[in-house]
Amino acid sequence: MSTLDPSFSQHLQEDEITPDQYGDFISSLPTTGFLSQYRGFWFPTMFMQGVLSLQKHFQAHDTDILMMTPPKVGTTWLKAILFAILNRKHHLELQKHPLLTNNPHVLVPYLDLHLYNKKEVPDLTSCPSPRLFSAHLPYTLLPTSAKNSKCKIVYLYRNPKDTFVSLWHFLEKIGMTTDLFEETFDKFCQGVKKPQRILCLRYEELKEQPTTHLKRIADFLGCPFSSEEETKGTINDISRLCSFDYLSKLEVNKSGTTHNMKNESLFRRGEVGDWVNYLTPQMLEKLDNIFKEKFHGTELKF
Ligand code: A3P
Repeated sequence: MSTLDPSFSQHLQEDEITPDQYGDFISSLPTTGFLSQYRGFWFPTMFMQGVLSLQKHFQAHDTDILMMTPPKVGTTWLKAILFAILNRKHHLELQKHPLLTNNPHVLVPYLDLHLYNKKEVPDLTSCPSPRLFSAHLPYTLLPTSAKNSKCKIVYLYRNPKDTFVSLWHFLEKIGMTTDLFEETFDKFCQGVKKPQRILCLRYEELKEQPTTHLKRIADFLGCPFSSEEETKGTINDISRLCSFDYLSKLEVNKSGTTHNMKNESLFRRGEVGDWVNYLTPQMLEKLDNIFKEKFHGTELKF
């Protein structure tokens, strides 16, 4: 198919699309230019191919651990935490820990944004088991093999007001928006997603009681901290290693780049409630109303 058919995206299933049709398929999606709407969710158009290839080709293993996060909710932090918990036996010497010299996005790759966006079928055979991947996908768009497998999924969410403020600063910093604050806010309100619950973590709770939640995560991942580790202070060590203050001051995160992006753009303030400095009363009311409507009757707290 070479001409754009607006119904193209509605009739084809992803596994029916061949790589030479991706361009036409993506062009037929509703778009704002920078973003494309696919199955009810907005994605940066430049990553759409990765989303499609991932859905078509990714074969989950039962031992896989998938981190699912919307953008700007603390993905970088959670990558550091999961990597440090899972690999703690290999990195007993904290002075030589890979997090000291690698940005968390290098240690835990994105399936959609990086691996499958670069290559239709990336070679994942050298990934150590359990494989730890991340994706900016809602649960409904997980590849079928992942839904059908026993792989573990960790979901992180965050107060949408802080998420929006974080997103705004990030887009500005990496030069990906020319929109005004108010225009970006309106687009954000249009794209609010419904979180799914697997192991569901909340940024604000992680901030408040990191060690409690690190224990919860380790239990969920099937590698609970032993009483010896608890006594030795391993949980506190990991918590400190992954903290905003520690990671953001490392040279790799101050001056390094990952996938052509400056690592420093991933670390801004790392606080709860910074939205009070940015959102107008009208914006607050608008967001509050959306959240009341969308999350009414759920157990999610913001
Ligand atoms: P702010 O912009 O509010 O400071 P993501 O990693 O999903 O892109 O999310 C980015 C947000 O997480 C930014 O929030 C960033 O400062 C914050 N962040 C990054 N590392 C963190 C850490 N170790 N602890 C807490 N927050 C962190």
